[in-house]
Amino acid sequence: TWTTENYIKEEIEKIRNVVGDKKVLCALSGGVDSSVAAVLVHRAIGDNLSCIFVDHGMLRKGEGDQVEKLFKNEFKMNFKRVNAKERFLGKLAGVSDPETKRKIIGEEFIRLFEEEASKIGQYDFLVQGTLYSDVIESGTDTAAVIKSHHNVGGLPEDMTFKLIEPFRLLFKDEVRAVGTELGLADEVVWRQPFPGPGLAVRVLGELTDDKLEIVREADAVVREEIKNAGLDRDIWQYFAVLPNIQSVGVMGDERTYAHTIAIRAITSTDAMTADWARIPHSVLEKISNRIVNEVKNVNRIVYDITSKPPATVEWE
Ligand code: XMP
Repeated sequence: TWTTENYIKEEIEKIRNVVGDKKVLCALSGGVDSSVAAVLVHRAIGDNLSCIFVDHGMLRKGEGDQVEKLFKNEFKMNFKRVNAKERFLGKLAGVSDPETKRKIIGEEFIRLFEEEASKIGQYDFLVQGTLYSDVIESGTDTAAVIKSHHNVGGLPEDMTFKLIEPFRLLFKDEVRAVGTELGLADEVVWRQPFPGPGLAVRVLGELTDDKLEIVREADAVVREEIKNAGLDRDIWQYFAVLPNIQSVGVMGDERTYAHTIAIRAITSTDAMTADWARIPHSVLEKISNRIVNEVKNVNRIVYDITSKPPATVEWE
């Protein structure tokens, strides 16, 4: 019978046999799959695993520090955080087209990863948190735990390494169970889906440090209040968006002209379709009051009541 305990034991054995005393590299994002994969491989081979965490500066409040603390201090992994916010913002300056923003971030991400990987030196394996659903979706060959690869996700052709994909046969809920068994906190194991380009696709149009800061602070309030209301497991994704419009408001005797924040919260099972979450008005009220009071330069809050389709989950 399949148990997480047996699975972990067998997988560790397999990884040890395949890797031997060779070097393994992992790109950590802070997401569920790559986090659990890294911890599993670390359990198997210890310091022969090196993790690279490219922090593009568009993560949620406190997230970069949490990832670093978890893997470097608690799990004591070989862990390198690359703080690259300025570099990403520089590349994105003046760019407002959503697809161009995504492309720039994706390319810069790979470039930085390569730079750091080459500093580490020779390695023979790369860890990926590929799930069974990814295997089916991408229509790649039959599931295999360890598979030879040449060109993965945009990595250059001349980089030869084998891929370690311990979750190629698992579903998300099984990966969560493995993560819990390996000692990862609920916060990590039940993290809501978060797009690779991060808050960059939640500030509409051109990015600036100020706008990122507004959406990051507003998002922190949304997350906190959804959690306080005990809704964090029921709602698939919940976050703040900065639509990049300003409107007139009033504060004390003063007229204000400040940003609008949109709240997006959806229920879904796979993000292919989604419905807007019927959050109690009292919770929305609290979120709204807190954001206008606590986040500078915001004077209006709206709630997104569109399903997918016709809207998408993200605004960009
Ligand atoms: P949409 O907005 O297309 O989102 O309805 C569907 C799901 O995918 C996530 N998403 C992304 N994830 N890189 C990612 O890794 C991206 O560029 C990206 N865009 C959207 C979104 O959060 C939702 O879960």
